[in-house]
This record gives sequence, structure tokens and C-alpha cells, in this order.
Amino acid sequence: MPEKYEIVYPNILIVDDEKGIRDILRAFINISGYSCETVGSLREAQNKMEGKLFDIIFLDLNLEDGYGMDFIEKVLNENSDAIIVIVSGIPESKILVESIQNGAFDYVEKPFNLNNFHEKFESIIIEWRYRYLIKQYQLKFKDIFENYIKKKEINSKETRYKDFLNNSDVIIKPINNFIEKLNLPFPETRSHRERLASLCKLSGRKIGLKEESIMVLKYGAYLHDIGMSLEPSTILENPGLLSDDEIKLLKRHPITGFSIVERFPFFDKVSRLILHHHEWYNGDGYPIGLSEDTIPIEARIFSIIDAFDSMIIGRPYKKKMSYSETIKELRRSKGKQFDPLVVDTFVQIPEETINIIYIKKSTEEESYVTKDQLSND
Ligand SMILES: [Fe+2]
Repeated sequence: MPEKYEIVYPNILIVDDEKGIRDILRAFINISGYSCETVGSLREAQNKMEGKLFDIIFLDLNLEDGYGMDFIEKVLNENSDAIIVIVSGIPESKILVESIQNGAFDYVEKPFNLNNFHEKFESIIIEWRYRYLIKQYQLKFKDIFENYIKKKEINSKETRYKDFLNNSDVIIKPINNFIEKLNLPFPETRSHRERLASLCKLSGRKIGLKEESIMVLKYGAYLHDIGMSLEPSTILENPGLLSDDEIKLLKRHPITGFSIVERFPFFDKVSRLILHHHEWYNGDGYPIGLSEDTIPIEARIFSIIDAFDSMIIGRPYKKKMSYSETIKELRRSKGKQFDPLVVDTFVQIPEETINIIYIKKSTEEESYVTKDQLSND
């Protein structure tokens, strides 16, 4: 797993039968700080791919030995994560849809200029980095699970699952160490995750969930926003207003988080909590737009806890609220954002109990959340 500031570069291949185009593309890519290889035919591309995995391929359509569009499937069979960008003189409006349908990521229309290309290339690199990191994160989680299984010397899948839930700290610790190294925006601090985990346990018990669901909630507290860390730091560290495109990128974090952990059998329900933690009870949420009981109960509970924490702690762009204002706001959102029954149960948790969590589990930067402030209505 690369550390936060380790720089990793993609393998880039240009496939075009015109030497002039290959040279211009290579020059543009070099100016952007990346290197690449070039070939003039599909046959040569095939040969190159036999010895090396390419992450980004700029692919001409009309080549002497074949049609580029027919080559996409072959490339994706070798590397399903490859990003293919069609390069052609056909107007974008006529060919973009067909290219995407065939599995290409984007389209660059010839002749191109440096400015247009630079913009496209930036989005291609963002996508490559995103796919690369998903794979790295999956490997990291695989490591954590394999270590756990090795340590526990447990063979039966069922016993493993039970044991896994009962020994969450064995897993939570390496997960937490991993998350700490990631680039996550405020308020994704260790204390934030611990506060959420404590509230999850409290609320889960109050609602009468089974122990398994309470553990799912606890894992959700640690992992719900892991997908955010895959987005560019220019977005994550921007305290100001974001563009529509940037908001779109941030809003994919539930899907990203889901795809990182869904393959692990113990994390089946956890991955669904991650996927649905921004759904609204009335169907206005994202990423799927599920409503009412179709949203897993753990996600319905978690979304209230996450909102409670963000209101009581505040955000760079939003003033923190008092305890009673927060409770009023939760009640006001009953049936819209939140499950009414879950809100009714959550607000029954005594304020003093919540105070204890917030005083104990707030870091220096959040130290303005004191008992007095929480109670000060
Ligand atoms: Fe989130």
C-alpha cells in the first residue's frame, strides 16, 4: 500500500498509425509530467501488452490492421481496470456514446490542442488514480483479514464469522491504523469515529438490535467515509464552495467504500451500510434513492448518528448547534431524511449519557464541545 505521499505513475500506451499524432500526444503527456510508449498498429499494441500491463491506452480507430473499437474488448480482457481513450477525427457527438458503450472511458477528437487535451488528461489521471487506489485498498483489507484468520487459527467459516464479530477490536485496530494514514476531510478524526462507534452501540441496544447488527453499526462508524479518501486532495482540502463536478465526485464515496469491502464475506452487511448511509427515508438521498424499509436498518440508524455528530460538532461551513437544537432538527426531519421510529428511540438516550461520550472522545481541535456547551440551550 503506498503511503499518503508516495507518487505512483500509470503505464500509458499510445496506439496510432500516424507518427505525427503519436509525437504530439507523447509531447502533451510529457508536458503533464508523465511518460508513455507508442506503437503504430494493433499488432504491435498486442505484443506490448503481452509483456506489460497498461493502465491508460489512447487508441486510434482506423488502423491499418484493424478497427480500434474492436480492440477494446481484447484490452479489457487482459486488464479490466484499463482506461481506454479513443482518439479519432470523427466528431465527438457522433462517436462518444458508441465508444462508452464499448467500454472506453472517454474520447479525444483530432485535431486537439494542448488546453483541451490537458483538461481531458487531468480527468483521466483522476480516474486512473481512483481505480488504482481501490485495488490497493482491497489488497490492504485482504491482508488485514488474512492476518486475523492466521492469528485466530479458525477454519470453519461460521465460527470465523461469530468470532470475528466478538473480536472486533482485533480487526478495528489495524483498520483504524490504516484509516489514520488516509487523506480524509474534517471531521474524519479518530475521535469522530470513536464517538460514532459509541453512539452506534448505545442506539443499537436501545432499538433492540441483535449483537450482529450492533457490530455492523460499529464497523460502519469506522468505515463509512473511507471512499472519500480516494478523491483528489484539491477537493478534500477545499473549505469553500465546490463545483458541480467536484460534488459529483464526492457523492460517489458510498459506492467507492462499498466496492472496497463488499468482497469480504464478513463485511456483507457493513458494505451495505456504507453504500446506503446517505439514503433518505423519503427516497431523496443518494446514491441509489432507496426509501423507507428498503434502506437497511443499520444504515437508517447510522445516518441519524452521523447527522447528530455533524450538527453538534459543526463543520467549517456550518455552525455547531446546541443539544436541544440538534434534537429539534432530528425531529423536524422525521419522515423526510430520517426513519421516524428510529429518531423517536434515539432522542430517548439521556443527554447526560451523550455528554459523557462527547467529553471523553473529543480531540483538542474539537475541545470546544464541552459539557456546558452541549447543555447550553
Ligand atoms: Fe458519508
